[in-house]
Amino acid sequence: MPMDNTLIIYSSNHGTVDKCARELFKLMEGKVDICNLSKRETLPDLSKYDAVIIGGAIQEGKIEEVISAFCAEHLNLLISKRLALFISCVHRGAEAERQLEIAFPQELREHAVVCDYFGGEVSELNLWERIVTTQMMEKEELEVELSKQKIRRFAKLIAETK
Ligand SMILES: Cc1cc2nc3c(=O)[nH]c(=O)nc-3n(C[C@H](O)[C@H](O)[C@H](O)COP(=O)(O)O)c2cc1C
Repeated sequence: MPMDNTLIIYSSNHGTVDKCARELFKLMEGKVDICNLSKRETLPDLSKYDAVIIGGAIQEGKIEEVISAFCAEHLNLLISKRLALFISCVHRGAEAERQLEIAFPQELREHAVVCDYFGGEVSELNLWERIVTTQMMEKEELEVELSKQKIRRFAKLIAETK
């Protein structure tokens, strides 16, 4: 079977999505390119990839704008690929599922072979961000945890659906 050509495209404000993307990069088979959208001026040529993994962080209930703009602009091309979607967020369970649902367009979620949340971390925050996250986490008794197990399962599901 020919080797897969995969693109991991993401945005990370404070490094956690970056960590998830790098972990996936290590786990994926075949040729893998990795692209931090918030640091790139030019996009890689999407047409050359068999599989595309898109990831972003949730801030105040929404995925970062650079990711929603990317999804909207390339929707038609993305639904022709093997697609996998993830978010990093501190919520879990029903609220994380709800955030995942509004993070990506329905067409992409329905087309994706896997769509999941990995948990989150809070680091490198400015004062305002620290206040927002501390209040949110205390109010809802949330804990900071990034699930390596979920990341491994995500990579395995992509490989299995080849
Ligand atoms: C200002 C701010 C707002 C946030 N709002 C949410 C939120 O509404 N829901 C949630 O689950 N996580 C929220 N988070 C947590 C982030 O999603 C989490 O820290 C994530 O791992 C950050 O990824 P990054 O380090 O790649 O930016 C927020 C974090 C910050 C700094």
